[in-house]
Amino acid sequence: MSDTAKLSLGGKDFEYPVLSGSVGPDVVDIRKLYGQTDAFTYDPGFTSTASCQSKLTYIDGDQGVLLHRGYPIGELAESSSFMEVAYLLLNGELPAKDELDKFTYTITRHTMVHEQLANFFRGFRRDAHPMAIMCGVVGALSAFYHDSTDIHDPVQRVIASHRLIAKMPTIAAMAYKYSVGQPFMYPDNSLSYTGNFLRMTFGVPAEPYEVNPVVERAMDRIFILHADHEQNASTSTVRLAGSSGANPFACIAAGIACLWGPAHGGANEAALNMLREIGTPDRIPEFIARAKDKNDPFRLMGFGHRVYKNYDPRATVMQKTVREVFDALKVSDPVFEVALRLEEMALSDDYFIEKKLFPNVDFYSGVILSAVGFPTSMFTALFALARTVGWVAQWNEMITDPDQKIGRPRQLYTGPTQRSYVPVGER
Ligand code: SDX
Repeated sequence: MSDTAKLSLGGKDFEYPVLSGSVGPDVVDIRKLYGQTDAFTYDPGFTSTASCQSKLTYIDGDQGVLLHRGYPIGELAESSSFMEVAYLLLNGELPAKDELDKFTYTITRHTMVHEQLANFFRGFRRDAHPMAIMCGVVGALSAFYHDSTDIHDPVQRVIASHRLIAKMPTIAAMAYKYSVGQPFMYPDNSLSYTGNFLRMTFGVPAEPYEVNPVVERAMDRIFILHADHEQNASTSTVRLAGSSGANPFACIAAGIACLWGPAHGGANEAALNMLREIGTPDRIPEFIARAKDKNDPFRLMGFGHRVYKNYDPRATVMQKTVREVFDALKVSDPVFEVALRLEEMALSDDYFIEKKLFPNVDFYSGVILSAVGFPTSMFTALFALARTVGWVAQWNEMITDPDQKIGRPRQLYTGPTQRSYVPVGER
């Protein structure tokens, strides 16, 4: 591709530099466009807009490729751990053993939350959605750690990053315990990051809790699959909030709010609810017809993606993990058969083929989470737990980016032009 892009506008010709990354699409650098042409570009949903430069995650939507710092998601899911992927995203390289041990030790010793934070839960109804609680409680963290909110101090940024990664499992587990009326469980530092989360969620003070290694491995892999995903809506929300210099805990709370939407992280809960509503394979054609009907707002939840126009590589790993968990727990769920059949029928239907709609990360995740014992209302909270690693890594990258400025898009104004006020008696 040439190294400049030419634009003719208003009878004048303009040229803009074309920048190339290490892999993937080039970008046209239009930072001077408005100053030179007095016109904005128009891109609702940012379908053709690169908001930043990043070294964290690369996605090739046509090839179904997902790399974290260059490592394919399939290899990381197979051979790595969530703590190791967290270190990789934050620091850029896979850790040596002593580096990983030190990082894990640090995270482990930040897992407790301030004792007063428990009071925030008691303000919620017991049937509050866990994501409503996560928004509120994670936002409240911004009131507790004044020693790690100077975002221009790299030491404080690291402390805030570690606190967020370490405390999300504790807060998510507390949200679950609150919803079922059980006492909160304190972290147990002798357990792995994921094992500790499982014990805080499903353990009770009345008896010891044995972490099932198969479930621990499956959950750790699910966390890896959800860790980061380029400039998705919630990550862009965290970057935009962070671009004003806002408190890091508040920025992550903003990301949680965005992730909650059913078009984004809320799709895992919506997908399982949809599969349960379908109930049996013979009802699948009815739902596929609804998904294709322009007059019906229904969409197949867990299908389609802004970037993947091929199979989401995370969905591949997720489907394989369903089988492993079912075999290990000696359980089955007819909803898995419905999911497999739905995928098969949708992927042979012209509508889904033409629109390149494939299962995404959210299509199978709920089947596993349900088998492990999580209520569907907790699914997006688990997504938020894992995605905190990506949000924190992207927030750090944004703050240290020399090109970074406060995010402030413009608009195409289509409202009334200037007019004079009319007193109420003359209207
Ligand atoms: C996540 O960005 C990320 O990376 C997100 C994520 C991450 O890790 O952060 O990967 C996590 O959010 C995964 C996506 C989870 N959401 C869902 O599963 C909800 C169902 N899917 C969609 O609503 C939709 O596919 C989106 C939101 C995911 C993507 O929407 P786009 O890119 O804006 O595409 P679109 O809505 O313009 O759809 C293109 C066409 C439309 O038809 P036409 O207007 O061209 O006729 O495809 C149709 C849509 O109607 N379509 C679907 C569909 N998804 C898109 N039709 C039926 N069922 C669907 N699921």
